[in-house]
Amino acid sequence: MLYNDKIGVSVLLEIRDLKAEIGGKRILDGLNLKINTKEFHVLMGPNGSGKTTLAKAIMGHPGVKVVGGDILVEGKSILGLTPDKRAKLGLFMLFQNPSEIDGVGFVNFLRSSVESIGEHTINTKEFMDSIKNNAEQLKFDKNIVGRSLNKGFSGGEKKKAEILQMAILKPKIAILDEPDSGLDVDAIKIVAANINRIIGETAPGLLVITHYSRILEYMKPEYVHVMINGKIIKEGGISLIKEIEKAGYDKIG
Ligand SMILES: Nc1ncnc2c1ncn2[C@@H]1O[C@H](COP(=O)(O)OP(=O)(O)OP(=O)(O)O)[C@@H](O)[C@H]1O
Ligand SMILES: [Mg+2]
Repeated sequence: MLYNDKIGVSVLLEIRDLKAEIGGKRILDGLNLKINTKEFHVLMGPNGSGKTTLAKAIMGHPGVKVVGGDILVEGKSILGLTPDKRAKLGLFMLFQNPSEIDGVGFVNFLRSSVESIGEHTINTKEFMDSIKNNAEQLKFDKNIVGRSLNKGFSGGEKKKAEILQMAILKPKIAILDEPDSGLDVDAIKIVAANINRIIGETAPGLLVITHYSRILEYMKPEYVHVMINGKIIKEGGISLIKEIEKAGYDKIG
């Protein structure tokens, strides 16, 4: 039985015995995870254990080949769906290393993302106000919003840009792969506060992948999962993070 099994609750995102390969190498090796609406999960694990691969498999990244198990959103398998269809179902991923896209303006990118997942036409004024408001809350330079997506953005600016996308897209399930990596102490606080605000506004199921407890000082995860060699080997509450910091991954398990 999984740590957060609750009887009678429909599961928002369910990973069942997932096995996946990259270039013929087995990376995910029988992974189980369930995330429900409003739940805040943290995934930790040593470098190379497969955390980013899991996030990519959920989003349908073409480089990750699922060879067994299933990924379900609200009880339906999404394995046959392209990444854009998965986004339309409300899945969102913040990339550990977001790519730079020259020639695609940030605002235009956001606009086409919203249009591609939404049913409604966008009210331009509301849309621009929302970007402005979110950029201010993230202490994100307004001029950056006018630039090409991620082009020449610093590491921290890329992370903030992705949080801004999350705020605008309002996903049902958000997977944030190291939202804290490369952030200075103030930026960590700002990013955490904004993630908290977005959670408060839109109540997604949230999975945050991180190596450090620092960002978690400002956030309140409920479930912690430890992944080693492509599977979850331990689950628990927030106290597990302290255990990992004290003992290291070798002693956990
Ligand atoms: N394109 C690729 N080609 C070959 N191997 C890959 C590729 N992408 C990932 N891998 C391998 O898959 C394994 C898992 O990588 P992954 O990026 O999922 O780890 P991670 O848990 O996210 O690590 P980190 O904490 O360093 O971000 C690693 O051994 C990595 O080298
Ligand atoms: Mg990673």
